[in-house]
Amino acid sequence: MKRRSVLLIGALSGLAATTGSCSSDWEGPNDPEFTNRLRIPPLADPQPTAGVKRFSLDLLADRRSEFLPGLTTKTWGINGSYLGPTVRVARGDRVQMAVTNRLNEATTLHWHGMRLPAKMDGGPHQMIAPGATWRPEWTINQAAATTWFHPHLHEKTAMHVYRGLAGLLLIDDPNGPNLPSDYGVDDVPLIIQDKRFDRDGALNTGGVNSGTFGFLGNQILVNGTYAPFFQVRTELVRFRLLNASNARVYRLGFADGRQFQVIATDLGLLERPVTVDRVKLSPGERAEIVVRFTTGEQAMLDSRGENEKQANDIEEEDFQLLKLIAAAPLTGSAPLPDALGGDPAEAPPAGAHRRTFVLSGSEINGKDMDMTRIDEVVPAGAHEIWEIDNTTYAHNFHIHEVPFRILEINGAAPPAYQQGPKDTVFIPKNAKVRLSARFGTYTDPVSPYMYHCHILRHEDKGMMGQFVVVEPGTEDRVPRTIGSGHDHD
Ligand code: C2O
Ligand code: CU
Ligand code: CU
Repeated sequence: MKRRSVLLIGALSGLAATTGSCSSDWEGPNDPEFTNRLRIPPLADPQPTAGVKRFSLDLLADRRSEFLPGLTTKTWGINGSYLGPTVRVARGDRVQMAVTNRLNEATTLHWHGMRLPAKMDGGPHQMIAPGATWRPEWTINQAAATTWFHPHLHEKTAMHVYRGLAGLLLIDDPNGPNLPSDYGVDDVPLIIQDKRFDRDGALNTGGVNSGTFGFLGNQILVNGTYAPFFQVRTELVRFRLLNASNARVYRLGFADGRQFQVIATDLGLLERPVTVDRVKLSPGERAEIVVRFTTGEQAMLDSRGENEKQANDIEEEDFQLLKLIAAAPLTGSAPLPDALGGDPAEAPPAGAHRRTFVLSGSEINGKDMDMTRIDEVVPAGAHEIWEIDNTTYAHNFHIHEVPFRILEINGAAPPAYQQGPKDTVFIPKNAKVRLSARFGTYTDPVSPYMYHCHILRHEDKGMMGQFVVVEPGTEDRVPRTIGSGHDHD
């Protein structure tokens, strides 16, 4: 769990204030034993209502969690003390959510990766006052994927997520391929977050709202479990990896260097499995991987930094994350299909509309987020090219509503395991990324979707813009200024 590189970094750069070590931190053992059973977020139970799946999500503050041995930590959670339940739905389902804000401050709940009308999106305009219940409703009309939900209140996202508000929303496709799908057994979510604790166990929030990248912690929790192990019972296990950290970038793989298969990117299955030994995930990104185990063995999921520490680039450090303990004997698994059924990329049409987004410190095209300004107007169904030109240190870029493909990173195709449908892309220091995006058809000229950096400190500082999707041909008639930004329905 410790950073292997901590002494080196401390010695070389004297960056204690931004890399974390502070004498009042809880440091834990140098070699934790990984004896805490991995917590599996419970599946949310929909209430049976004719033709609709209804879920209730209560956002709770002042809860108590036991992460560290013998210590209690005050946390926030959704229907529980930390993180949320896993919502599992199928393509074609009609869903109704009842999101009740039991915090003592306003928040929102955004469905990250969901294709839905902008009013249901849970972005900064769909504010939920303390005590209020917000009831979005939509039909699941997209490919099977691992999506997630988290607060998105303007300037408050980093703190609300850090305290514990986030959860998974899994979409199944009844016509999909035969993949491991026994939740918590061979289909296992791994929500990865870094934290820092005070000696008394309190969450240390220092850095959440300061510094170049905001919060970078020295302890990793997986599904809210410190130093966890998972008992493997089947030959193949599908892990759904979510980087739900504020700023940290992980390169996930196994300590023994074993290879595994990536089967899905953020928003759905690849065409066929891609064999790798590491996957890189920046905040907000997901990947689904399938790992093979042999009877009785042990393995360690870890993260290995690769970049040299450079001034103003985000550091990658080494962490151990999850010990895997394989049963003897293991239950056999069906072989992974060669064809996963993921949609092939659709090339943008000749003359596709291009938009350019220049990223600087924490601005996009030289502007900070303005809740009343519509930055971009997109005709429904348009297939566009979005170019992100990063002129400074590392960022990433997330677009609401639309699954996109990465066409190029600095002029080259992305690695094969990133060629599936995405909603968030990492943009290294000074890099240029081109995306191909086929926008949806829910039109609303006055309710915007967001695009932004998902490093939460940057997002909160205003590294975000707003776009509306409108009837083709009406672009020029759309107001570029909207009301103060609160929906009241
Ligand atoms: Cu994960 Cu705009 O958010
Ligand atoms: Cu989102
Ligand atoms: Cu950023």
